[in-house]
Amino acid sequence: MNRPLIILGIETSCDETAAAILRLKDSRAEILSETIYSQIREHAPYQGVVPEIAARAHAEMADRVISEAMQGAGLSFAELDGVAATTGPGLIGGVMVGMMSGKAIAQVAGIKFIPINHLEGHALSPRLETMCDFPYLLLLVSGGHCQFLSVKGLGDYTRLGSTIDDAAGEAFDKTAKVLGLGFPGGPEVEKYARSGDAKRFDFPRPLIRRENLEMSFAGLKTAVARTAQAVPKLDEQTKADICASFQAAICDVLASKSARALAAFATAEGGAKRFVVAGGVAANTEIRKSLDKIATQAGAVLIAPPLPHCTDNAAMIALAGAMRLEAGMVPPASLETAARPRWPLDEASAAANPAYGAGKRGAKA
Ligand code: KG4
Ligand code: ZN
Repeated sequence: MNRPLIILGIETSCDETAAAILRLKDSRAEILSETIYSQIREHAPYQGVVPEIAARAHAEMADRVISEAMQGAGLSFAELDGVAATTGPGLIGGVMVGMMSGKAIAQVAGIKFIPINHLEGHALSPRLETMCDFPYLLLLVSGGHCQFLSVKGLGDYTRLGSTIDDAAGEAFDKTAKVLGLGFPGGPEVEKYARSGDAKRFDFPRPLIRRENLEMSFAGLKTAVARTAQAVPKLDEQTKADICASFQAAICDVLASKSARALAAFATAEGGAKRFVVAGGVAANTEIRKSLDKIATQAGAVLIAPPLPHCTDNAAMIALAGAMRLEAGMVPPASLETAARPRWPLDEASAAANPAYGAGKRGAKA
């Protein structure tokens, strides 16, 4: 039996400043406290995350959010076993704030600093609430990412396929923007879609018939924008119909690709059938429903974190940190870690495929 580990997690890679204290014992996670400050109000006037505003807001809020989490758990820094912080991928200004705060605390308290890949946090997030054994198929679907990964163990991730252009969350955000629905787009589009007719607009389902796990959402995004411009009157019902039709297209693409991914994963992993969906878009009820249906048809179980742990949070970063510390997988010179704006989970496949390289030429996700 392992001794319990208590970790402070810090997440600042996008537009949430978050801190959480987590206790890990015998592979079971217990969240002792969790604080999250969302910057939605700061970014709302621009209908998207503005990197400079995000960096400033993180710098202003990080200390308070971390102190509140510590107070919530009733602990001092010296009582922690380590501090885990997202060191990439994400908006560099925000990542630096969280990383530097984490390093400073670790140094002062004489505890380990554990650098964490934000995507690993999402990949492990179902384990915050459930004993989700390895291996499992993961669909990571958020504002910046849309990919299938085979998760065989801590730090053992193989990318099976991903979007070749935009992430699904980005398409939700763009749809909300062209319809003037506010920010962030996903929850707004979902709300409108509830009273819409999903059959009114026949939006494209890009790459749905292609027999691989590649996805594409840029064309769908453009089709929505064109439709919004072309309709004679963009009234509330039309907006709802566009949202419902758009959401149906996303559901169809994700469900169809998930069915393929599940079949390939089960073959490769000796019949393993656990299917995890994580990331902000996994908060969408219709998407969950269609993935659940696909999983049932394949004789698999769908595991999705509860809604607050689908979107960005620090508990998943603390969990990844605790698991790494327990497994002895913390780099010895972790205080020298540099922030990484881009950091694929499966570095080997990313390196082998120039389409996923860095810079403007690489796929955004
Ligand atoms: O995981 P996350 O919080 O941040 C990233 O790492 O990207 O995901 C944010 C994304 C945004 O694009 C947001 O619009 C989308 O998740 N999202 C949703 C819903 N809630 C958040 N998309 C569809 N339906 C939702 N209910
Ligand atoms: Zn995220």
